[in-house]
Amino acid sequence: MPFQLPAEFRDQPTPFYYYDLDLLDQTLAALTAAARPGNFQVHYALKANSNLPILARINQAGLGADCVSGGEVARALEAGFGAEHVVFAGVGKSDAEMNLALAADIFCFNAESVPELRVLDELARAQGRRARVALRVNPNVDAYTHPHITTGLDANKFGISLPDLAGVIDQLDQLPNVELIGLHAHIGSQITELSVFAALSRKLNDLQTWLEDRGHRLPHLNVGGGLGIDYEQPDQHPIPDFRTYFGMFEQHLVRRPGQQVHVELGRAVVAQCGTLLSRVLYVKESQHTRFAILDAGMTELMRPALYGSHHHIQNLSRPAGSPEQAYDVVGPICESTDTFGRARLLPETSRHDLLAIRSAGAYGEVMASGYNLRGKAPALYR
Ligand code: LLP
Repeated sequence: MPFQLPAEFRDQPTPFYYYDLDLLDQTLAALTAAARPGNFQVHYALKANSNLPILARINQAGLGADCVSGGEVARALEAGFGAEHVVFAGVGKSDAEMNLALAADIFCFNAESVPELRVLDELARAQGRRARVALRVNPNVDAYTHPHITTGLDANKFGISLPDLAGVIDQLDQLPNVELIGLHAHIGSQITELSVFAALSRKLNDLQTWLEDRGHRLPHLNVGGGLGIDYEQPDQHPIPDFRTYFGMFEQHLVRRPGQQVHVELGRAVVAQCGTLLSRVLYVKESQHTRFAILDAGMTELMRPALYGSHHHIQNLSRPAGSPEQAYDVVGPICESTDTFGRARLLPETSRHDLLAIRSAGAYGEVMASGYNLRGKAPALYR
């Protein structure tokens, strides 16, 4: 079914975000059904979208939370996620953030360096607690995605590189207030070539054997997030292929008896249920280009400016099948990268037409900025 904005929202002031909570529920149902046979523990990555009505649905569906800041840990707890289902990752956790997570007694810290582990040990001791940690390794596996959202290569700042792992493990003996319970890896985002998860699994298999040879048997493996979505055809593929995704790990990851496997999905859960709605302010025809200038810009949705990423754009004010023309669809911000799409085919478009910028539920609102002293676009739900 092509996207339609419910009638009650058609006269709303723009720009605004609209979330289809039915689609979110259907996505969650597909996700939990696909995760159940292999007993995968799914943690939702709050960084993709942290709006409370969305978190409430995700919590209801039984997912845990993956957080990367103290603010996200606090938000997850506020939304009702049990602390025993919260993991906390991040290459630069501050003392205050770690203290907050320690006090809440979260399930696990995904730790990325010896200096971080030392601070965590010290803070845990001061609180009279023991912090459970998974070591985030950098497996040097190419995710075949945009370089700005690739995280598992040697050149990236994330994780402990494999040659350094032995040294880190040795240090753990001197840190009595941290308990090693798992391994963690996250190789990138918007991954559509799913065979990379097989490559990741093989690396983790080797690492587990290596660790066991050194006397470490770990009850938890966390393979991160990264499952991509279809930005080109959101109506044809509103729900990602979770079965094939989990199938890669079922087939390639060698699990020890009783071992739990965790995943941290963000985009795949929320991207398709969110749409940015904007009206055309002006159509400007220059000698070379026809511009549709919108009242939304990179301040509302930064992804095209930051990664050159594609979002499907529809003119909701014109009947389907109208003759089309090419437009450069741009925002009002004083930056040339403030462009949602070049040479997009749209029906003949006029001032005040309502446009839908699709697949904006993940990394849309959360990355909004106040540049040019713009106000924040509201979120509406149905
Ligand atoms: N786990 C870790 C450790 C992560 O760093 C991320 C995303 C995730 C899980 C969730 O990944 P997902 O399932 O959503 O791919 N702003 C960029 C995406 C940045 C992703 C950062 N890390 C974008 O708009 O494409």
